[in-house]
Amino acid sequence: MNDILDGVRDHYRATGLAERLKTALAAFGPDNQQLTPEQLATVDQFHTRGLAATADLAKLIGISADMSVLDVGSGVGGPARFLAATYGCRVTGVDLSEPFVDAARYLTKRTGQSERVSFEAASALDLPFEDGRFDVVLLQHVAMNIAERPLLYREIRRVLKPGGKFAMFDVVLNGEAEPLYPVPWARTPETSFLLTAAATRDAIEAAGFRTLASQDDTAAAKAWNAQLRASGPPPSPNLGLVMGPDFAQLVANLARSLMEGRLGILTAVFEAASTKT
Ligand SMILES: C[S@@+](CC[C@H](N)C(=O)[O-])C[C@H]1O[C@@H](n2cnc3c(N)ncnc32)[C@H](O)[C@@H]1O
Repeated sequence: MNDILDGVRDHYRATGLAERLKTALAAFGPDNQQLTPEQLATVDQFHTRGLAATADLAKLIGISADMSVLDVGSGVGGPARFLAATYGCRVTGVDLSEPFVDAARYLTKRTGQSERVSFEAASALDLPFEDGRFDVVLLQHVAMNIAERPLLYREIRRVLKPGGKFAMFDVVLNGEAEPLYPVPWARTPETSFLLTAAATRDAIEAAGFRTLASQDDTAAAKAWNAQLRASGPPPSPNLGLVMGPDFAQLVANLARSLMEGRLGILTAVFEAASTKT
């Protein structure tokens, strides 16, 4: 198990990321000038359809200012900052990658949100929170890296209040065919653990959840990829800064895997049952 976590950490190693972001963000103005979550969206929303996907998922959940939200596998923190800025809620992010957590804290200082948004380095399989702490848990493009799905979903259920919402947005298998590696979450199959949409929902329900909404977002992802290709070189800074110079290739392989029907995109929202199973 630790070998898998080490492999995932290695994939997201991002050495010196906060410093590199600092240099790249000089293009937006001096260090003491506050940035908006929208300005950072090309570099801090690490999933298909970027900021639009986070905004759509948030609408599906129904978030209010009095809620406490946990973002599991929070990356460099774009979704957490967007939710706090848009809804006024408190957001905590946890991520396996320490450089990502450092970068998330740095970017949150730059958007002036450190009072309401915080990050911790931790594994999704051993969340450092007491039972029933959160109203909402978010999981965007993270489950693909996690072999122990029953444990992942049980941990999420544990930290949610009864009646709390769990919203997920993940890449899923369509059938037997594997993705074309390397992809954005794994350069080799050793750190990729995909399930079909049906198997994902089954695993989540088995952990004590009821499905509230479930939609196939594959067509929207394909359209977004086509638009990206047509619009030429990406704006700067972008996720290449976070993941390295092969990032364009990783995204192209994901797009091809979607086009060839190997992969799909699932969005779903669940409610935590009032008693644990
Ligand atoms: C593709 S990125 C998505 C980041 C973020 N959710 C977003 O949408 O911007 C996947 C993230 O999941 C994190 N991750 C993978 N496995 C994890 C685990 N077992 N525990 C915590 N974080 C994990 C990675 O470190 C990485 O930041």
